[in-house]
Amino acid sequence: MKDELYLITGAAGATGGAAIDELLLHGARVRALVHRDDDRAAALRARGVDVLTGDLLDDKAVQAALRDVSGAYFVYPIMQPQLIEATVYFAQAARVAGVQSIVNMSQISAKADAQSHAALAHWYGERVFDWSGVPVTHLRPTFFMEWLTYGFQLPQIVKHDMLSVPAGDGRHAPIAAADQGRVIARILLEPADHIGKTYPLFGAEEFDHEQVARIVGDTLGRTIRYVPESLDAFEARLGHAGLPEHFIQHITSVYRAYQAGEFAGHDDTVERITGRKPMTVRDYVLQNREIFTPDAQP
Ligand SMILES: NC(=O)c1ccc[n+]([C@@H]2O[C@H](COP(=O)([O-])OP(=O)(O)OC[C@H]3O[C@@H](n4cnc5c(N)ncnc54)[C@H](OP(=O)(O)O)[C@@H]3O)[C@@H](O)[C@H]2O)c1
Repeated sequence: MKDELYLITGAAGATGGAAIDELLLHGARVRALVHRDDDRAAALRARGVDVLTGDLLDDKAVQAALRDVSGAYFVYPIMQPQLIEATVYFAQAARVAGVQSIVNMSQISAKADAQSHAALAHWYGERVFDWSGVPVTHLRPTFFMEWLTYGFQLPQIVKHDMLSVPAGDGRHAPIAAADQGRVIARILLEPADHIGKTYPLFGAEEFDHEQVARIVGDTLGRTIRYVPESLDAFEARLGHAGLPEHFIQHITSVYRAYQAGEFAGHDDTVERITGRKPMTVRDYVLQNREIFTPDAQP
């Protein structure tokens, strides 16, 4: 393992950053692809990571990033279209470079008949990797735990003690990026048993949004209510917030799928791969308490 080099894309992001933490813990050599050379890139360099700045839509940059790499994590931002194009560049470059294992971030809603354009692109992205012949493991997580901290949800919790999204009666087991980072690293370090597999990923406990609101509130010592929002109101709210049309189409479609039960489920995949149970909602809120605390917000 000492000589192997692992490429982590989305290295300044949630799951990429967590995968780097775990690989470094195991003494692995890591190359990071970041989109911007900023303080986050400098912090990675300070930890001994070989940092490249580049765009996943720049095929030459992707080829350079994959040179001499044994295993790679591929993650593409949900805010941007062109996932399929980025996947094609990555798969072809990995094939030419002889990469021995790729972990591909997809999502639980990746289906051939998905209404979300981004979820459909994830489904086609998986197929591109499969056709390419590069050894690949697909990850299909449910909603991340970090969902609680996204811009369309966090201010409601912090300022109004409220969780309001169009979740209906749907349920999911929120999964933290830290747990996914451990999964990604373990697969890259020992890929043999995982190649060709598709893993749905779930957190420790499955809840509806009333339960999530209650647990977040209990952990913070406040009362936080779930106030169901209509899909139309949600779509209008995100539009007023200036979020990209691509993302709004995705997220409203995904909430429709969520209401129909497509994000539900629970299993032991994370523990089986990492040897550790995934984080609970309570653990996550305790670890990130300051984010949810009104005084800490601008
Ligand atoms: N959130 C969920 O609940 C959920 C659930 C299931 C699956 N997923 C999947 O998870 C993925 C997102 O993972 P994440 O949360 O770890 O991502 P993330 O935190 O958004 O990080 C993505 C990183 O990619 C960088 N980036 C942006 N555009 C780029 C480009 N053109 N080329 C190269 N890098 C670029 C960003 O850089 P900057 O930071 O500099 O902008 C960012 O650091 C998506 O594919 C999504 O479908 C998410």
